[in-house]
Amino acid sequence: MFATRCAAKIAARSFSTAAPLQSKVAVLGAAGGIGQPLSLLLKANPRVTDLGLYDIHNTPGVAADVGHINTRSIVTGYTAKDADGLKRTLQGAELVVIPAGVPRKPGMTRDDLFNTNASIVRDLAQACAETCPEAKLLIISNPVNSTVPIATEVFKKAGVYDPKRIFGVTSLDLVRASRFIADKLGRVVDVPVVGGHAGITIIPLFSQVEGLALTNDERAALTHRVQFGGDEVVKAKDGAGSATLSMAFAGARFADSLLRASAGEDVLEWAFVRTDLFKNEGLEFFSTYIKIDKNGVKEILPLPASISEYEKELVKNAIPELKKSEAKGTAFVAGN
Ligand code: NAD
Ligand code: LMR
Repeated sequence: MFATRCAAKIAARSFSTAAPLQSKVAVLGAAGGIGQPLSLLLKANPRVTDLGLYDIHNTPGVAADVGHINTRSIVTGYTAKDADGLKRTLQGAELVVIPAGVPRKPGMTRDDLFNTNASIVRDLAQACAETCPEAKLLIISNPVNSTVPIATEVFKKAGVYDPKRIFGVTSLDLVRASRFIADKLGRVVDVPVVGGHAGITIIPLFSQVEGLALTNDERAALTHRVQFGGDEVVKAKDGAGSATLSMAFAGARFADSLLRASAGEDVLEWAFVRTDLFKNEGLEFFSTYIKIDKNGVKEILPLPASISEYEKELVKNAIPELKKSEAKGTAFVAGN
């Protein structure tokens, strides 16, 4: 249903002229593997009125190309060489989507990207805190379990932190879980995925899918496939990067959810956010069910009481790893 829903919406929207609000969306890392198709999908979304593209290089070409698509948004593209390029991209942004940073190669974990991506996310978050502190930040750059705490600490230091507006984008895990059961189920349905965005911290809740009957072996195999779906793509790309097209689809869908919420719709989503759900365990960030409105996170819902014992065990096992990644991100900003 997700795929059909999104494709139909994008097709319908491409030819629509009516959209209620002015919404600027900025993409940082717009010339990259994710950035380019994400910019394309955002250009096709009529809720977007201004599309600001920024990368350290190659952005003018991407902006000129995408800018010829005859939807209503106006496209700008700046690089690090342009005076105030980043600032001009961020001015007036309602959403800032950040896929800037290096991707994995075979044999690497997402945490192996920390040394490069932590400072990229820190610096971009700093620019957002200065120029568009009210914008919603959608962080795609890995390791998400650490980059979201990094952006959070930057906003706290700048005195502009609001936990309702910082999101780690985990939508690709939901897209994968949904796709991986589609053939067995005979239809495409939403599958909640909670926890974090790395290996065993990714927890698909197959127990919540109506009509899905799995043997223990099938459930274990499907869970493992969702947890390591990223590795499947990294291996298949054989050194040329990680998921880009499916990530662009998932990121554009999540951005659209926030834009719909801004326009007054009640939207249920899943994202890696600041929450008190595991406060007793000393964990601050967890990907979970969120209700969103025009201000960002409106309500964080508890995990459903009906999740299985198997899933409860997965949550328990993920918590120590999530805490480690969170502490690493927080310490990185504190030490700078
Ligand atoms: P890529 O190398 O193709 O593109 C990254 C882009 O970021 C490049 O164009 C680069 O020039 C740009 N960049 C680097 N530093 C920058 C800076 N300071 N400011 C602006 N732009 C900058 O990589 P990709 O395949 O697009 O992946 C990007 C990131 O997204 C990686 O960290 C990857 O692990 C992550 N990712 C996350 C998910 C998820 O589910 N959250 C999924 C896929 C990939
Ligand atoms: C993914 O899940 O595809 C991304 O996090 C990229 C990766 O490194 O696997």
